[in-house]
Amino acid sequence: MSRLQGRKALVTGAASGIGAATVKRLQADGATVLACDITSEGLGGDVRHTGNLADSNVIAALEQAARSQLGGLDILVNNAGVCPVGTLDDLTDEQWQFGLDVNLLAPARLTKACLQMLRASKAGRVINTGSILSRYGDAGLGAYVASKHAILGFTRSLAMELGSDGVTVNCVQPGCIVTGMTRGMLENGAAAEYYRDKSALKRLGEPEDIADVIAFLASDDARFITGQGIIADGGVMTHS
Ligand SMILES: NC(=O)c1ccc[n+]([C@@H]2O[C@H](COP(=O)([O-])OP(=O)(O)OC[C@H]3O[C@@H](n4cnc5c(N)ncnc54)[C@H](O)[C@@H]3O)[C@@H](O)[C@H]2O)c1
Repeated sequence: MSRLQGRKALVTGAASGIGAATVKRLQADGATVLACDITSEGLGGDVRHTGNLADSNVIAALEQAARSQLGGLDILVNNAGVCPVGTLDDLTDEQWQFGLDVNLLAPARLTKACLQMLRASKAGRVINTGSILSRYGDAGLGAYVASKHAILGFTRSLAMELGSDGVTVNCVQPGCIVTGMTRGMLENGAAAEYYRDKSALKRLGEPEDIADVIAFLASDDARFITGQGIIADGGVMTHS
């Protein structure tokens, strides 16, 4: 019996990278998946929804789609993310706002919209996507790093709020994964070499490396894990 047989999942940022791999992995484990992205290109899943998560109408439409087309929701994967780049000198208010809207407020709004369904589930799961930059900082990434620290803090607090309903809330923290977000940076061979060398496993991450962690957190095997940030970085951040 597949470990997520009969479970209903919603994955955001599902057209590319970690989100696309997560859709495939959850489906392979037996879940029915509602996939959302701002673009329809590359969007898989059993039910597809295209829209900008910074728009509250899209949040409401996703809740409706889960209710009417999936018939409920057990697993919410808040994965969509953007990476505003710039030092404090350069970042505009619009860049700050968009980074916070997509990386922090959309997960909070979507989770709130889906709370009734998650509480009604026998095995409710919220899985947020943080980063190794939920723990560390980096020059030129202040807005991104702030949003990723915030999503980890939100995860810990929400876990305390939803625990008595049997809903777990965790945050996966990827290291350097080859996806649409990083491909440009990694084309510069020096950056790829830096992360490969710095990792204990001597390789960059693939989207499936993170999708498998998300599927585990979604499964019954992870029923006693909540409020945690799970770093999956091939051992990049284990040494100075
Ligand atoms: N790739 C890495 O090295 C890495 C490391 C740490 C954390 N992360 C996080 O992993 C998550 C997934 O990123 P990825 O690396 O797979 O990148 P990606 O760019 O391949 O995928 C992100 C997806 O999110 C979608 N998206 C962006 N803004 C959206 C919006 N407003 N509404 C709906 N969809 C939107 C994009 O269209 C894209 O399909 C992000 O939260 C990212 O911050 C990635």
